[in-house]
Amino acid sequence: MTTPHDDPHGEDIRRAAALLADASYCIALTGAGISAESGIPTFRGKDGLWTKHGEPPLNQFDEFRDSPADWWRNVAERRRNPDELTASLVNAQPNDAHFAMAELERIGVLKHTITQNVDGLHRLAGMERLTEIHGNSRLLRCTQCTTRSPFDEIPEIFPPRCDHCGGIVKTDTVMFGEPIPPDALERCYRESSRADCVLLVGTTAVVSPAADFAFAVGQRGHPMIEVNLDPTVITQYCAVALHDKAGELMSRIAASVKELRGSGDQ
Ligand code: APR
Repeated sequence: MTTPHDDPHGEDIRRAAALLADASYCIALTGAGISAESGIPTFRGKDGLWTKHGEPPLNQFDEFRDSPADWWRNVAERRRNPDELTASLVNAQPNDAHFAMAELERIGVLKHTITQNVDGLHRLAGMERLTEIHGNSRLLRCTQCTTRSPFDEIPEIFPPRCDHCGGIVKTDTVMFGEPIPPDALERCYRESSRADCVLLVGTTAVVSPAADFAFAVGQRGHPMIEVNLDPTVITQYCAVALHDKAGELMSRIAASVKELRGSGDQ
């Protein structure tokens, strides 16, 4: 017989699983913390990139607009001499938390995930009902028609042009000061407005508009569930808040949901 002492998260895992299993339209918001166990640094908190190096300048998108060709030369240079975040993205693989969320999507419990991460690991874990609100570092995007294409190598001409509309192409990653692509915003509004439960994994939930889509679900009186290493500003609003590593917690929550849903294949 396990006691709360030897399984401090057991009861909250069961409560979170029950809320997820009972929801008719659960969505998720994920952040850098879900990829921490894949070796990708987070931004805030004691080892965060912004904590160590300060936030990047807010004029990145202005620099792009002023001279897309010069901006692309800098991208080429950074690819040759990657910084800590870029280097960590290159070979990163999904971890147990990504696979647990993919399982919740597969069994129909998780209807959509909004991720703030640009690492593409949710896609690599097999998730499809996904909005990468801050873009995907493995893709390029036309600034006119938002057509996306693989970012396999540095283009030969600066700036590259869109094959469909001739617009200027940039990396899909959304820079500070850059508007969120309209197609991504529209999908987030649509998914957030129909949700009756929201799961937040690995995020401080301090960046808009991403965090707003999660808060909106809670503000309509629906349950918010937090899975995060540390307490955050949303902890106080959550029906359940689990504070430990996402890999183990999400795996246990997914297993518990499958038990409740009697989906058989454990
Ligand atoms: N498991 C679960 N949570 C973790 C883990 C882990 N193994 N490791 C760290 N965390 C938590 C931290 O406690 C922190 O609360 O993940 C959270 C990461 O928060 P941030 O670093 O603020 O990242 P995020 O919320 O994704 O930031 C949002 O800010 O700068 C922008 O564009 C950037 O998309 C990013 C946005």
